[in-house]
Amino acid sequence: MRTNKVKKAIIPAAGSGTRLLPATKAMAKEMMPIVDKPTIQLIVEEAVASGIEEILIITGKGKRPIEDHFDANIELEATLREKGKLDLLKLVEDNFGAKIYFVRQPYPKGLGDAVLQAKAFVGNEPFVVLLGDDIMSDTTPLSKQLIDSYYKTNTSQIAVMEVEPSQTSSYGIIDVDSQLEEGLYNVKKFVEKPKPEDAPSNLAIIGRYLLTPDIFSILENLEPGVGGEIQLTDAIDQLNRTQRVFAKTFRGVRYDTGNKLGLITTNIQYGLEHPEVKEGLKQYIIDLAKKLEKE
Ligand code: G1P
Repeated sequence: MRTNKVKKAIIPAAGSGTRLLPATKAMAKEMMPIVDKPTIQLIVEEAVASGIEEILIITGKGKRPIEDHFDANIELEATLREKGKLDLLKLVEDNFGAKIYFVRQPYPKGLGDAVLQAKAFVGNEPFVVLLGDDIMSDTTPLSKQLIDSYYKTNTSQIAVMEVEPSQTSSYGIIDVDSQLEEGLYNVKKFVEKPKPEDAPSNLAIIGRYLLTPDIFSILENLEPGVGGEIQLTDAIDQLNRTQRVFAKTFRGVRYDTGNKLGLITTNIQYGLEHPEVKEGLKQYIIDLAKKLEKE
């Protein structure tokens, strides 16, 4: 058993953003803004706030803007410095708080295959996986909750949350065995995207994982699953047969930014907390509500 400090995280960002077309026709979905930050920057901030020191972002075709975003923009920095715009300079300087690396997934063979691209980066350490579509908000960042739980059990931890029973075919779903402590479950089975009638529960995998490196040898030998893709959920299910994988309930707020309505509502929520726009946005919403009431 390992009790290594968790220092590394990976962010798979190779998927296409069909739910946001046409905006994502020529732009990476991870670059869609939440007020003034690309969603992937908020994901990186969660990792850094959880103590992560090194992050590998797995990209693919058309994802170059993500690399540019996390790189220094020397010309822009020089211009802002020259003009004395130091507030703006602070926003664009390379100060994300972690070392950020990139690797490309050559073929879109699924999430499991994307995670496998991180094998050399991860080495023999436990690591966090953060999927880019969802922003998780809680007093303790969700990745930190999984890391803390790993320090207690020494095994993998998967974040789960209840979803509408009709939505199970969009998620990995767990078959609960027993409850170890409040919100921490032993799992009988992890099933990728079951139809509602086949789903063993409505507890869904929500895109945050703490995995031990034993997952890689499983991924290397895994047959394609649902949709003909190498599924991370299938690899986790196999891992759970030899080494306990726990499911941990997330009690904070999950913002799904990968679909149109979610992207709009997340922007409103974050806008209501943004010092520059919160007053104006609040007034706008109050006026709009009055207008809609009259209609
Ligand atoms: C992936 C995983 C799925 C998980 C989901 C969370 O699916 O395969 O198990 O529940 O992320 O967002 P995707 O959304 O990439 O189809």
